[in-house]
Parts: sequence; C-alpha cells; structure tokens
Amino acid sequence: MPVFNHQGLQLHYLDEGRGPAVLLLHAFPLSSEMYRQQIAALAPRYRVIAPDFRGFGKSEMGEGPSEMSTFATDALALLDHLELPNAVVGGLSMGGYASMALLDQDPSRVRALVLADTQMGADDDAGKARREETARDVEARGVGALVESYLPKLLLQPPAKDVERKVRSIIESTQPKGAAAASRGMALRPESRNILARFAGPTLILVGEADAITPREKADQMAEVISNASVLEIPKAGHLSNLENPTAFNRALDAFLETV
Ligand code: MLT
Repeated sequence: MPVFNHQGLQLHYLDEGRGPAVLLLHAFPLSSEMYRQQIAALAPRYRVIAPDFRGFGKSEMGEGPSEMSTFATDALALLDHLELPNAVVGGLSMGGYASMALLDQDPSRVRALVLADTQMGADDDAGKARREETARDVEARGVGALVESYLPKLLLQPPAKDVERKVRSIIESTQPKGAAAASRGMALRPESRNILARFAGPTLILVGEADAITPREKADQMAEVISNASVLEIPKAGHLSNLENPTAFNRALDAFLETV
C-alpha cells in the first residue's frame, strides 16, 4: 500500500501504470477507490495517481476542518514525493474543488485540467448550514447518516444496483471524523472564478446528463470563464458520472489526454 508522509500524517494513494502523469482527486464522501475503472482503462498508457484525501480511505486525518486548500497542499506534496514536475489534474465534485485550489497554489504543476461534475461557486449561507448539519449528523450517527443523505443524490434514480452497491460500500468505509472535517472544509471554500479565468491550459469539463448536485448549468458557467475549455455530457449518468457510465467517461478522458 503506497503511503507518504506529509505534515506528520500518513497519506495513502494509488499509483498505477506508466507514461504521462494523471492525478485524479476523489469526491465526497468517497475515496480513491472510485477511480478503479479509470485506472484500469488508462494505466496501459498513463501513470494514474489517485490519493485518498486526509481523513478518507486509508489516509490519516489532521486537526480541524479539512479545507480544499489543505487537500491541494497534500496533493502537491504527493507530486513532490513522486518527483513529478506536473500532471494532468482531474477531480470529480469535491475533487474538482481541490483541483481548483491546487491550480491556485501552483499552476505550473497543472498540464491540463479535468473538472467532472463540479462547480466554481462557493456555498451560500443555507449551503454552509447544511454542511454543518451533515458534519454533526455523521459525528453523531456515523456513516449511515452519509448513506442516507448522500447516496440518493449521487446517482441516477433509480440507480443501477451494482453501482449503488459499490458506492454504498465505499461510503460505508469512510471515516466519520474525516467526512465531518471535509464537510466543514467544503463550506469554507472560496469562489474559484478568478482561478479558472487565469488558467490557459486545455480543460475538459464533464457532467452526467442527470447530475442533480452540479447540473449542466454549473459546467457551462466554468466553461465560460476558462479560455480553452470544452464541455461534454455523459449520458445515462448522474453526479458520479465516472462510476455510472465508465465507458463514456473513459472514452472522453482518453480522447482528451491524447490531445494534451
Ligand atoms: C461530492 O460529490 O464531492 C459532493 O457532492 C460535493 C458537494 O457536496 O458539494
């Protein structure tokens, strides 16, 4: 199990394949496990690196809220650890928030950007209050609270049974304290419009056609501010488009990587 040490924490990651580096950052409340099908598809031609954010998967957690900027610092430290000057950086949903924070901290490390089922906006006050409610709920009741509140929103309704089973099992292995810290961290994230507007590299924006959390409109808003972006809708998919339609998602990602 590959791990590295950053700020006194053991952080776990997947690292498979050979070739140009592709860093994939995971959604909430999941882990690097969500990218198994992308790793299998890309590893013959790319080196795919997928960390577990602090407090998720097999990574230890730190103190206080897990801010997106902290996830980004951890991801940059992982690139340092692997001696990679840059990578194609991709993230789905919360992974997208962290990708934008990484881009803010060091754009020279981002060869190209993939933003899937995510948004550049910050939470409004009601959204921030819901994050705190989620954090308290998961602290009080454990991951069952996340299964109840998140699972139905993440997937097409009705979901494919095998995908639902897989997502449920990843959520059930989430660390309650890590999820609470990330929920509070997401509430603190700033708007990323200016960060995206400064980025001149190639950008692929993907969105599940039935994404109920970050619908197509959010994808178009990001595309409007990025100078070199294209948007592609993933059919037969909700918010977790990489898990719900891996064939279409991987085809889009692969075609984009060819051009980078
Ligand atoms: C995610 O999939 O990472 C979450 O839905 C993000 C969010 O709640 O904003």
